[in-house]
Amino acid sequence: MSGIIDDTNNGTAATAASVTAKTTATTAGTTDPTARLVVDNPAPVLRLDGVRKSFGATQVLRGISFEVARHEVVALLGPSGSGKSTLMKCVNLLERVDDGRIWLGDTDITDPRENQDRIRARIGVVFQQFNLFPHMTVLRNVTLAAIKVHHWQRDRAEARALELLDRIGMRAKANAYPDQLSGGQQQRVAIARALMTDPELLLLDEITSALDPMLVGEVLTMVTELKSQGTTILMATHEMSFAHEAADRIVLMRGGVIAENGTPRQVMDESDDPATREFFAHFRH
Ligand SMILES: Nc1ncnc2c1ncn2[C@@H]1O[C@H](COP(=O)(O)OP(=O)(O)OP(=O)(O)O)[C@@H](O)[C@H]1O
Ligand SMILES: [Mg+2]
Repeated sequence: MSGIIDDTNNGTAATAASVTAKTTATTAGTTDPTARLVVDNPAPVLRLDGVRKSFGATQVLRGISFEVARHEVVALLGPSGSGKSTLMKCVNLLERVDDGRIWLGDTDITDPRENQDRIRARIGVVFQQFNLFPHMTVLRNVTLAAIKVHHWQRDRAEARALELLDRIGMRAKANAYPDQLSGGQQQRVAIARALMTDPELLLLDEITSALDPMLVGEVLTMVTELKSQGTTILMATHEMSFAHEAADRIVLMRGGVIAENGTPRQVMDESDDPATREFFAHFRH
């Protein structure tokens, strides 16, 4: 399945750039220690600080704090109803937090004075289903938000869309309608659309859970390829073995708070917490 995204040039360029940055920083570090600090501790792409959200009397998020570093893939896990989607919606400004702050880079996106469309252009989002408009072609689906919301010229949007569709091997389907594609192809198109504005952060909320099991693999392969290209991803998933394999870090939500935050091994294999062990035992067959 290799080559779903054939963009190794970008990946290589990104790696080369970061090596150059590190080398420069190390050299600079001998004379200017702060220069090194900046490169070794870049600001997180996403930072949540004490986020709270209730629906009526139901407290869904009861003080959520964690970070996603640049190029990191973080899997957000937790039982159904634990607030994963609510948290994603707060990050994407579809829901307003009751308390706490969310930072995207240097921007406090919970500040109502910030321009919401400009923030949304910096975040790509893919949900479980209903991602594509059935009455529009693939090309129109992929370009729609860029043109209507972010005011791109049609030519620019179509060129970018065709480039992305080419990368996922779907260029030939540009004029097809969603019901002419498999569910897996539709989700890959939805991911391509989310990448249109070259977002700093990609939010993936259960993107394979509505798919036929046969089609899950191709979508997860695409996520793995994005990770290898350095895309920063926060993903809610029930695909535990994929989370174990692909995530750099697991954030486990339970009862509106973060129960665990660590490497897949620390959280999924080695936690001493009985409730955590019970949660993951449930998925092991
Ligand atoms: N708009 C809303 N109005 C009222 N309650 C809501 C709303 N959205 C979510 N909730 C409630 O918030 C809680 C968390 O829901 P959420 O969808 O965030 O959970 P989740 O962790 O994503 O679950 P799943 O794994 O099933 O997707 C649930 O009790 C849900 O009923
Ligand atoms: Mg959900």
